[in-house]
Amino acid sequence: MPKSKQITKFAIAGKFIGFTLKDDNQIKEIQLQTYKGEVWIKPNKELRPTLKNVISVGDLVIVEGEKHLNDKNGQTKLKAHLVTLKQPAIAVEATKHPDPLLSCTNNLLAKSINQQPIASILICQKSDCQKRGSQNVCRQIEEALRDRGLESQIIIKKVGCIKQCKSGPHMVLMPDKTRYSEVKPSRIPELIERHFSGYKQPQSA
Ligand code: FES
Repeated sequence: MPKSKQITKFAIAGKFIGFTLKDDNQIKEIQLQTYKGEVWIKPNKELRPTLKNVISVGDLVIVEGEKHLNDKNGQTKLKAHLVTLKQPAIAVEATKHPDPLLSCTNNLLAKSINQQPIASILICQKSDCQKRGSQNVCRQIEEALRDRGLESQIIIKKVGCIKQCKSGPHMVLMPDKTRYSEVKPSRIPELIERHFSGYKQPQSA
C-alpha cells in the first residue's frame, strides 16, 4: 500500500515573534518571521517545556525538525525537535542593524547546524567600554570557557554600545539576560561558574 505521508528534515532561520498557546496555556506553536514570511512550527513534547526559558521575542533562532507532507491533501506540517539561539534580541538591538533578518538569515543557514550553543555572553566592545578594559574581560571569558571545555556551547558575542557607557565594561549573560557593569577580568571565572555550572563539557566520540 502506498504511503500517504512524506517526511523530510528542515532547518529554518528566522526571528522569533511569539508562541501560540493551547487552552491550558501550554505552547502550541513557535511563530517565526523568516525572509519568506511568517511560519508556525509545532514543537515536540520534549522541547515544549524548555522553550520559554531559552528564547525571547526578537531573538534570531534556527528551528530544526521534520516536515510532514500529506500526499492526499497536499498539506504540510512542521514539527520541531530543536531550537538554537543564534543571536539574542538584546544583541540585535545593541548593534542597531536596520534589518537584522536580511543580514543574518543567510549567514545563519550557512553556519553549521551541528553546533548547538543555547547560551551566550554579550560583551560591549565600543570605545568607552574598551577604554575601561572590555578587551581584557573578553580575553578572560575566552580563557575561562576554554579551561572548562565550554567554548562550543557558550558563544561570545561582541556587541555595540548599550547606552550605559559610564559604567562599562558591560556584559550580559544569556539566556537569563543578567547584566553586569564595571566588570573586572578577575570576576569572570566566578561568574561563569555561577551562571553556567549546569553546562557540561561535551563528551568526545
Ligand atoms: S560603549 Fe559600552 S555601553 Fe556604551
